[in-house]
Formats: sequence, structure tokens, C-alpha cells
Amino acid sequence: MDIKFQELDLDNSAASDVVVVFVDENKKLLATGQKLDAKTDGSLSRAIEHSHFRGKRGETLTIIGSSKGPKRIILCGLGKVKKLSQRQAEEIGGGLIAGHQTGGIKQMAICFDDVDSNMDNADIAARIAVGARLRGYRFDKYRTKEPEHKKPTIETVTVMCSDAKTAGERFQPMNSVLEGVYLTRDLISEPANVIHPESYVEVIKQLVGDGLEIEILGEKEMEKLGMGSLLGVGQGSEKESHIAIMKWNGSKNKDEQPVALVGKGVTFDTGGISLKPGAGMEEMKFDMGGSAIVVGTMRALARRKAPVNVIGVVGLVENMPSGNAQRPGDVVTSMSGQTIEIINTDAEGRLVLADALWYTQQEFKPQVMVDLATLTGAIIVTLGEDQYSGLFSSDDKLAEQLHKAGEDTGDKTWRLPLTDEYDEAINSPIADMKNMGGRGAGSITAAQFLKRFTNDVPWAHIDVAGVVWSKKNTKIYEKGATGYGVRLLDRWISDNYED
Ligand code: BES
Ligand code: MN
Ligand code: ZN
Repeated sequence: MDIKFQELDLDNSAASDVVVVFVDENKKLLATGQKLDAKTDGSLSRAIEHSHFRGKRGETLTIIGSSKGPKRIILCGLGKVKKLSQRQAEEIGGGLIAGHQTGGIKQMAICFDDVDSNMDNADIAARIAVGARLRGYRFDKYRTKEPEHKKPTIETVTVMCSDAKTAGERFQPMNSVLEGVYLTRDLISEPANVIHPESYVEVIKQLVGDGLEIEILGEKEMEKLGMGSLLGVGQGSEKESHIAIMKWNGSKNKDEQPVALVGKGVTFDTGGISLKPGAGMEEMKFDMGGSAIVVGTMRALARRKAPVNVIGVVGLVENMPSGNAQRPGDVVTSMSGQTIEIINTDAEGRLVLADALWYTQQEFKPQVMVDLATLTGAIIVTLGEDQYSGLFSSDDKLAEQLHKAGEDTGDKTWRLPLTDEYDEAINSPIADMKNMGGRGAGSITAAQFLKRFTNDVPWAHIDVAGVVWSKKNTKIYEKGATGYGVRLLDRWISDNYED
């Protein structure tokens, strides 16, 4: 989908299949709507009068045009705009696409007149475009028999506003971030026979094209480094386990300590010998969601040339049962030297991150480290699906920064506790720790486990098990991979760590 910005001009908009004009919370047409109403002998105001249209934010009313105006006109409610959030502005654009994506419309002109709002008008216009692109994404490369009338038809969205030049400039870096979101969604959507540790590495290598430095560790190198924890998870798989490292050196200060992003990349989680039940197991292709957020964020940072040094590290393994698979009761030695008793081979994400986190702090001496992982089913019990991710941190300031970036972007996150009492739950009678706690607080004991591998570097863990994949359509994504997290991390970095 192409996005364009143009000065508001009704004559120009008429070239589109459909023209969108806005209506305020009192059902009053904004300036361009009023002009169009006059031009079409009052058909817009008549349509409002003879319907239940209330002008609530995102509510729409479609009018088939007469010979005097555009072919189709959509009235869209703005609701209360005095206090508008970034996500609400995006949902206006996304909602328009969601409702009309397959309706035969090729060109959509969105006429956004200036409003009185806390947000800058050029920003609202740019965010409407962002929402349109977010919602315009679809992963349909494997659908070969879709009937024409079900295929998306929108090719171009033209956002018309009072200062098109500024809106277009504001949109540029946002669009770079969207390219990261698209990559994250593509990676998560691909099935596990296509994206596995070996093919995933090849995709990551292509990011040199974005200006990232890429380094790959294979099993031999990881054995040398003593990564028994990560390697144990992948040992039942035919595919070779890897760690991929992506570097973005955008800061003017070449010696600046990097921000580190670490991701769980379990390309498929069968549970291993502690096999998962069959129903719903196909969903475990998204168990590499944390790593996909890291990869997408690295693309976003590189494409908008962010003035900051960032390291992305992802642990890529496949958790399979086989004659060579890890068993419950096994004891492995991690790169940190700490030993782990495997109680359940399905608690594998923390085993991958244990070595990835230790390696990251050891090798890159980051100023701060954030990991993302579809780590526990328990976080879905706690916070639900599609709502908040779970945030855990040893550092109050860092937790506050991440929470704020979540509120600002709409990729929301909610902090849960870490304390010594929870930490005791993972003590083992035979090794330094075991890989799961008791019945309660499953997400917290998992986070406590990770904390033991952070070596006191300021660190946060974000459990994204409930938010990377959705069973519902919303105004900014279709069901499937949501792209959650890229905008959160991008904002957190730009707000706190850039030159
Ligand atoms: N990948 C799963 C967590 C998960 C579950 C993500 C459902 C998304 C949806 C993780 O590896 C896992 O299996 N965790 C176990 C831990 C338990 C064995 C301590 C869980 O949550 O049941
Ligand atoms: Mn598991
Ligand atoms: Zn898992």
C-alpha cells in the first residue's frame, strides 16, 4: 500500500474511488465535508440526518456518490479529539482500512481538516497514515485460491491535510519503524518448516543490507563458550542451533556502551520430552516472537538511522523430542558456570535466554539489557491476551521508562514483582537451580531464573506470550502476528538513549 500526503483540495481528491471526510463529536461536518456537502446538494447532511450515525471516533457512514462528486464518500467520526493519543489517531486510519480493505476501492483520499487537539495536526495526519499501513498488512503468500472479492484492493491512501509537507516529513521515521513491524510480523507468520534456526540465520544475514553488522555463532562456537543450557534445548532437533548478533552503531560517540536487546527464538516448541498436548500446538510456531521483535526493531533503528548504539542478540533453537533429546532430570552447565536441573523440558525459553543473556553482558558490556520472550502461559492467565505484556525489572527507572513507552505507543506493559521469596522457588537439591518453580507465580519464577544470568547489569524482561499473536481482528492488525513490541522498543530507545 502506497501512502501519499497532499494539501487539502477537494478537486484533487475526486480522482480517488472514495473520499473520506470527518465529522466531529457533535455530528458537525468539518470544513472539507461542508464543501463536499454543498457540492452534492446536501447529500452528506441528509445522510447524517436520516441515520443513527453519532460521530463517535472511528464510526463510519458510507454514501454512494451522485454524478456531482466522488464515486463514494465515507463520513468518519472523530469523537473527542481535545485529548487524543497516538494509538487513537492510528486507529482512525486503521479503522478505515479495516472496514473497506476488500470493498473494491483502489484509491482512498482521507481529507483531514485541522482540529483543536493536544496532538499536533501534522502528527495526527501522519499517525492516520501509520494506522492505515499497520492495518493494511496481510500475510497471504500461502493462499493460492482466494476469490477476487476477498482480496485486498486498496493500492494508494492519500492523506490530505493543511500542512502536507510537515506531515510527510513526520511520517518518514514512522515508516521506517513500520518496516520493522512488517518484518516482525512476516517472521512470526511463517510456519516452522520455513523459519527454523538454519533458515532464520539466513534471513538475519540479509540485514547487512540495512547497514547492520551481523555475526553468527553455530553449535561448535557455542560449545567452546560453554553454553550447555542453550545447547541442551536444541539437542533433540535436526536443525543446528544458533545465536545471531546484530549490531547498529549509530551513535556519534563510538565508545558509547550499547543498549542490548535479547530475544527468545524457539522456532517451534513441542515441549520436548515433556511433550505439549496436541490441541493448539501449531501456535508454538510463534515461540520465536521475542526474537522477531528484536530483529524487527534492529531493522527499524537502522532504517531511520537512529543515533544510538544497539546490540540485538537472539537465541535460535528448535525444541523437539527425539532419541537425542534432553530429559527431565538432566543437569546442564550454563556459560555462567551455574548448573541447572531440568525438571520440565517445556520450560526451555529460560534455558535459551540464560546463555544468551550471560553472553550478551559478558561480550558487549551493555549499559542496559532488555529481553523479550514468549516465556510463560501463566502470563496469559495473569494479564489476558492482546492486552498488556508482563514487565519484570531489577531497576525501577528502567521499568518506568518501558512502562511509559508502552503507554505512549499503545504496546502496553504491566510490571510484576521480583523478590527473594520468589527466587527461592527455583532452588534445586542437586544443582544450583531448577528450571521451574512450583504451581504458583509461574511468570515470576521464570523471571527470577533469568535474573540469575544478568550479572547485575540493569535489566528488564518482557513476557510477550499473550501479545505477539492474536485470535481477533483489531483496528491496527488482522488476526495473526500483531507486530507488538517493535514500536515499544523503538520509542523506549529514542526517548532515553539517543545522542
Ligand atoms: N512457549 C511456552 C510459553 C507459551 C505458552 C507461550 C502459551 C505462548 C502461549 C513456554 O516454553 C512454556 O512451555 N512454558 C511452560 C513453563 C512450565 C513448563 C513451567 C508453561 O507456561 O506452561
Ligand atoms: Mn515450552
Ligand atoms: Zn517456549
